Amino acid sequence: MAQHPLLQVQDLVVKFRLRFGDLTALNGINFTLAPGERMGLVGESGAGKSVAGFSIINLISKPGFIASGRVLFEGEEISSYPLEHMRDIRGNRISMIFQDPMMTLNPVLTIGTQMVETILAHSKVSTAHAREIALEKLAKVYISSPGKRLGQYPHELSGGMRQRVVIAISLLTNPSLIIADEPTTALDVTIQAEVMALLLELCKNERMGLILITHDLGVVSQVTEKIAVMYAGRIVEQGPTKNIITSPKHPYTQGLIKALPQAENTGRRLYQIPGMMPNLTSIPPGCAFHPRCDQAMPMCRDHTPVLCTLEPGLTQVACHLYGTSKEKA
Ligand SMILES: Nc1ncnc2c1ncn2[C@@H]1O[C@H](COP(=O)(O)OP(=O)(O)OP(=O)(O)O)[C@@H](O)[C@H]1O
Ligand SMILES: [Mg+2]
Repeated sequence: MAQHPLLQVQDLVVKFRLRFGDLTALNGINFTLAPGERMGLVGESGAGKSVAGFSIINLISKPGFIASGRVLFEGEEISSYPLEHMRDIRGNRISMIFQDPMMTLNPVLTIGTQMVETILAHSKVSTAHAREIALEKLAKVYISSPGKRLGQYPHELSGGMRQRVVIAISLLTNPSLIIADEPTTALDVTIQAEVMALLLELCKNERMGLILITHDLGVVSQVTEKIAVMYAGRIVEQGPTKNIITSPKHPYTQGLIKALPQAENTGRRLYQIPGMMPNLTSIPPGCAFHPRCDQAMPMCRDHTPVLCTLEPGLTQVACHLYGTSKEKA
């Protein structure tokens, strides 16, 4: 039997029902993840990265809702599942890691209690065995003195250690996909690198798929195999990480890469893409990026480019510079 892709996101549209009408936060995104594959979802603040991550696991909170499109996980159409069935998949076969470890950790319970309870909720093992599993997972994320940590409360640990505990908890159910939303942004730079390296090692060793949501293209280039660049609720470019980093096609991606700090650039002012990501209530017609684009042409103002493949298996880009087909705005 042919193996299913790990994840297929097809024409996903997510809206928020607001007083003045529906706001489209995701405007038809498509991507596929193979088992064990690692993908970065990048773009400036407000691009829709978190909404994309949450909607995959149907965790989009009101007034948000999936307006159309499908999400298939290991071949199952999970976007059509009722909430209680989805809860089984979430935190079991798919784990989510958030920026703030305290979104996952309960401040009034010890690490041990939280880990043991999670294990007991998902598998029929004794409490003693659950404790052993907890210790084993803490060792996997290189927590010193794991036995002692089990008896500690979250506030007794440093930020970096708390995020390691969250990663250990996310591993408890041996998920096949981890969605990590800015998992290291709240940490010191040196700790950030350590936690990222850990996540990468675990994904490789356990053959877990990863969706890494971040605005940091530098981090993504070290950890992922492919990248999807988001702008105003759409994917504007996607492809293998190496191609996107070394040969970005979309002027927005080119700007993001130009804005990356370079070692030889110390002391010089960093490049910044002019202007700002539009508010989703007032997305410009045509290509949403055109008011900020230094390569914009007249047609960019009234025709929305769609994602097209430049070379099979390589970069897809939604930009008129490449003569891609277009839809009228
Ligand atoms: N609860 C909500 N109610 C209304 N609109 C929302 C809500 N959550 C998100 N949005 C809309 O979706 C847009 C995208 O939000 P999202 O959180 O996905 O951005 P992001 O790319 O993750 O940004 P950041 O880098 O700041 O985390 C927001 O700018 C906002 O317009
Ligand atoms: Mg976000």
